[in-house]
Amino acid sequence: MKTAIVTGAARGIGLATAKLFAAGGWQVALVDRDSAELARATFPEGFAIDCDISDPDQVDAMTAQVLARTGRIDALVNNAGVADFGPIEQTDFARWRTVMATNLDGTFLVSQSCIPALKEQGGAIVNIASISGLRGSTLRVAYGTSKAAVIHLTRQQAAELGEYGIRVNCVAPGPVRTKLAMAVHSPEIIAAYHDAIPLNRYGSEEELAEAIVFLASDKASYITGQVLAVDGGFESTGVGLPALRTVLP
Ligand SMILES: NC(=O)c1ccc[n+]([C@@H]2O[C@H](COP(=O)([O-])OP(=O)(O)OC[C@H]3O[C@@H](n4cnc5c(N)ncnc54)[C@H](O)[C@@H]3O)[C@@H](O)[C@H]2O)c1
Repeated sequence: MKTAIVTGAARGIGLATAKLFAAGGWQVALVDRDSAELARATFPEGFAIDCDISDPDQVDAMTAQVLARTGRIDALVNNAGVADFGPIEQTDFARWRTVMATNLDGTFLVSQSCIPALKEQGGAIVNIASISGLRGSTLRVAYGTSKAAVIHLTRQQAAELGEYGIRVNCVAPGPVRTKLAMAVHSPEIIAAYHDAIPLNRYGSEEELAEAIVFLASDKASYITGQVLAVDGGFESTGVGLPALRTVLP
């Protein structure tokens, strides 16, 4: 049976992705550092592993645990992430490192640890970035930079791992009403997002999961090195000025 690892799978986009893999007949390792939430998240085709992805030793132990149980890794979804929004001058090195440790170091570490197993039969990595990694923004010096780095890491990995039959792609979500987003989106930000998104709404965890599982599946067998914005059209609206909606008389 094909095996997927989904990090940050205790809730939100990661949990929806794990459930969709399971519905498609995969066995799924749900990896998260929030053990209480993880215990509530598991379902028959999934097994939970407590792991902080920013810790290299915990990551290697997690990968060994998955392989001991399943004997193979076919897909890795690097989804675990943290958000911390603040002005540049209030972003001290500790805040910067906290964001980088999970969003960038964690994505690098889990990938490194899974590559030998992915090489065995070929497979796929899907890294989760953000529209904040595609566009510059206020208040996101650490978060946005970490996600831009994840986008470039995707391209590095795709370029080097293709010859081993490993495809690497990236999904850049727009806003989704998860715990992560609601902690940093004020009512004003929510209203402004609605205004700036052509589809005029937030996305759902399930809509993100569909794109992630597609890119991990054989249906995407000739796609690698790509960044797919799943964002209701936000990224495509380069000159999305509200004033441009009015036609001059
Ligand atoms: N929700 C959004 O609007 C949005 C938008 C763009 C990108 N994203 C990205 O999507 C991904 C999922 O976000 P979400 O909104 O579902 O968030 P969420 O907070 O609901 O879930 C994230 C999960 O990751 C886990 N996690 C965090 N750091 C970890 C670590 N070091 N080790 C192991 N687990 C860790 C958390 O415990 C949590 O269960 C993140 O990478 C996030 O940056 C989300």
